[in-house]
Amino acid sequence: MQGKGIRIENLKKRYGTGNTAVDALKEINMEVAPGEVVGLIGPSGSGKSTLLKCLGAVIDPTGGRMILGDKVIYDNSWMVRDLRALRRDKIGFVFQAPYLIPFLDVIDNVALLPMLAGISNKEARKKSDGTPRGA
Ligand SMILES: Nc1ncnc2c1ncn2[C@@H]1O[C@H](COP(=O)(O)OP(=O)(O)OP(=O)(O)O)[C@@H](O)[C@H]1O
Ligand SMILES: [Mg+2]
Repeated sequence: MQGKGIRIENLKKRYGTGNTAVDALKEINMEVAPGEVVGLIGPSGSGKSTLLKCLGAVIDPTGGRMILGDKVIYDNSWMVRDLRALRRDKIGFVFQAPYLIPFLDVIDNVALLPMLAGISNKEARKKSDGTPRGA
């Protein structure tokens, strides 16, 4: 992702329908600058995982807008045709329950996705070693 970071406008997520519906996100607004590190804190059930899953294109929001870099990815519906490519190419996601591959080391767990996206094994491992660029 280049340039403008992440922008979330009036994001809503409702699970279920009728009188058992849960409004997990009620018009969330947030901006993250490129390179900014953000910690999301809040009580259990406040919607942290729901927000990240919407932003990570793991679940569908119910309304609002999400902008990644200079691309509007969601505007009351997905604006991206290939969500799998979006997840693979633009988003890194570590789930609350760690779906790590137990027989791979840390670097290979991180490098797996860039490898699947067609980056060479050597380059993917280099990008995954955690050393800040330019260091
Ligand atoms: N699949 C689902 N179906 C129905 N309700 C759900 C679902 N997932 C989450 N919820 C509800 O949405 C609300 C937000 O849940 P969420 O998991 O996003 O909270 P959280 O802040 O990540 O909590 P925790 O700190 O326990 O991880 C809660 O009321 C939860 O019960
Ligand atoms: Mg959670």
